[in-house]
Order: sequence, then structure tokens, then C-alpha cells
Amino acid sequence: MQFFLDTANIDEIRELAATGLIDGVTTNPSLIARSGGDLVQTIKQICALTSGPVSAEVTATDASGMIAEGEFLRTIADNVCIKVPLTWEGLKATNVLTGKGHPVNVTLCFSANQALLAAKAGATYISPFIGRIDDTGANGMELIGEIRAIYDNYPALETQILAASIRSVLHVKESALLGADVATIPARVLKALVQHPLTDKGLAAFLADWKSTGQSILP
Ligand code: E4P
Repeated sequence: MQFFLDTANIDEIRELAATGLIDGVTTNPSLIARSGGDLVQTIKQICALTSGPVSAEVTATDASGMIAEGEFLRTIADNVCIKVPLTWEGLKATNVLTGKGHPVNVTLCFSANQALLAAKAGATYISPFIGRIDDTGANGMELIGEIRAIYDNYPALETQILAASIRSVLHVKESALLGADVATIPARVLKALVQHPLTDKGLAAFLADWKSTGQSILP
């Protein structure tokens, strides 16, 4: 499973890219606004911190506007992935952009049929929004399972499932169990993945016992 960082915060990306565990980054207009930076400069900086795909989202709502914006975003860096919303216009733009060889992440997916449409349009990634579905009282994880089952029924569909709107470590584990290809994860959740109280307790005991021997590993 690939891990993308779901943030436009340069400091977070720099810190976590240093772990070697980050395969890409996703941004959206809200994350760009929260970062306080200029879109083009922010995407350029992020693309320099990872060789993996960096999703940058169009804001036009018509297909021709999305195509123009997407092609402009692709000039920022080779690893930009164009993000388009799951609308008819977005699907038309996806078809054109992927037909020209551009990677496209289709975002704001809330149903299996939407994911099927995006795959037929040639999307590189489909982004089902788990947390926002959970917020409505439904189970976002069921959507991941449905999309996985549908895509597996039709091996010609090559779209990768990018689990998005992840809010917890449980979302990451369940996405992996259900076979999502990628999880895009906020820094807070990614850092929490490593935490376990028994790891901390066990390490403290090992270190105390080791100290009592008076030895050191390096000569
Ligand atoms: C990433 O591609 C999505 O835009 C993001 O995961 C949305 O997350 P949110 O629902 O927490 O805003």
C-alpha cells in the first residue's frame, strides 16, 4: 500500500518525507488556503520534496476550463497529478487529460457508481472520502470495499483506489485490509500509526536492563 501525505504544509511534508515512507502528496483548495501560500509556489515546493505524485486540484467547473487549468498545473513539475471533481464535466476532462497522458486523481467520490464512472473515464486514481461519509452517519469504509469488488470484477479497469478523508488510524488499517491501493493520510494520523503503549513500555524495560549490564554495542 502506498502512503500519500494529505497536506499542503511544507514543514510537515519535509519532516515526514525524511522517513522514506511517503509515496506522494495530495492537496485540495482548502488545504492550500490553510497553508497560506501561493498555489504555484506551494505545489512547486512540495514536488521538490517528493518524487511521487502530488495532486493539485483544478477549480474551474467546466471541462474545457478544467483541462486548461490541469495542463497548466502539469507545467509546474513533472510529478504533478491533476485533481478533478467527480462531476460530468470532471469526467469529460478526465477522459481528455488521461488521453493526453496526464495522470488524473478524481476526487469527491461518495458512491460506487461514481467510482465506476471515473474508472471508465480513465482516472489514474479515484478518491473516496471515507471520513466525510462517516460524518453523515453512514460507513465510509463500506464504499472502499464496494469499489475494490467492482474494480476487481473488471481487470481492464486500472484506476487505483486512493482512500481519502482519513481521520483515524483505524481508517488506515481498514483501508489496507480492504485492498485500497493508496491511503492519503494527514500528518497527525500518520504519526499516530507508530504509537503503541506496549512498544514504549517494552523499550523502556530493555533499555533499563541494558544499562544495568554496563555494556555498549559500539567499541
Ligand atoms: C484528499 O485528497 C482529500 O481532499 C482530503 O482527504 C479530504 O479530507 P477531509 O474530508 O478531511 O477534508
